[in-house]
Amino acid sequence: MNRSHSPNRNIQRSDFPGNPARRLANRRTDVASGFGDFAPDFPMLNKKTETIPGIGAGGEAMLTGKKGLVVGVANDRSIGYGCARHFRAAGAELAMTYLNSRTGKFVLPLASALECQIARSCDVAVPGQLESVFEEIARKWGRLDFALHSIGYARADDLHGRVIDCSAEGFAHAMLVSVHSFLRLAKLAEPLMTSGGCLLALTYYGGQKAVQQYGVMGPVKGALETAVAYMALELGGKGIRVNAISPGPVATRSASGISHFDQLLDHSAKRAPEHRQISLDDVGALAAFLVSDAASAMTGNISYVDGGYHVMG
Ligand SMILES: NC(=O)c1ccc[n+]([C@@H]2O[C@H](COP(=O)([O-])OP(=O)(O)OC[C@H]3O[C@@H](n4cnc5c(N)ncnc54)[C@H](O)[C@@H]3O)[C@@H](O)[C@H]2O)c1
Repeated sequence: MNRSHSPNRNIQRSDFPGNPARRLANRRTDVASGFGDFAPDFPMLNKKTETIPGIGAGGEAMLTGKKGLVVGVANDRSIGYGCARHFRAAGAELAMTYLNSRTGKFVLPLASALECQIARSCDVAVPGQLESVFEEIARKWGRLDFALHSIGYARADDLHGRVIDCSAEGFAHAMLVSVHSFLRLAKLAEPLMTSGGCLLALTYYGGQKAVQQYGVMGPVKGALETAVAYMALELGGKGIRVNAISPGPVATRSASGISHFDQLLDHSAKRAPEHRQISLDDVGALAAFLVSDAASAMTGNISYVDGGYHVMG
């Protein structure tokens, strides 16, 4: 790998202000002093940080020793990539997928900068491709600790039209790519998560409430969120947690397919209690926390990272 082209060459962990590992580490001093000799032991906070080549040193490695899969990176503005950066900065070893060879030329340099051990194309709508990713993971790693599903898709006509005009075929395709692929991912991950694990998906507020511009993706995300609850129920006994993150609008390639997305961005930032837009780092920091052992009692959750937009009446 040629590190001189690495977009992350100069990144230090201190560049991740929202890094939960750092917040927890800071808190540890207070907790320890409060408990004196009876200070509780937090093994993950006691792990010494290793230098991550190409990323930088310092801070605690919350995901050291964990192996994770990120499915659905299109470019450096993808939410999946924002999460992958945080996973890697926290010490995880990664596998990454992109849709096809067209997106590969944008994604492969990113995967290389994050030293992904597996980087390959995967169209979840093509039978066998997701399965083949897991075959490679099983061969190379023999196990998996977490997986992020960062895929959403509806055909443009379906996305831009009224929900009630959506064809059965268009609706089924959006559900297949955006929801059923997460179920399949869970089924394929299950035998590799023998010591437990975490599955994470991306959803949006439009799955809970009707949002004008979101069209058919609203019911699709609603189904995804309900799937998260059932998956959490079914896999909880094996120590496999299933969660979703619901970010506020972020300007990405998929988002550019939503009509008047700029208005949605502006409106959300104006109305949210924090009055700001959401960054990839906001989402990535939360994702790294959720897949870590620090979140070991969290499953079936939809975690909002939207500046508080969802609490507004
Ligand atoms: N951008 C936002 O405002 C926002 C807000 C909330 C949730 N989300 C969700 O975040 C996730 C990631 O989207 P993003 O905004 O980063 O956009 P993005 O375009 O960067 O990522 C979407 C990914 O889905 C992939 N994809 C589409 N069809 C696929 C298929 N058949 N097989 C495999 N991959 C396929 C695309 O190639 C792309 O990599 C999606 O689930 C999206 O709904 C986005």
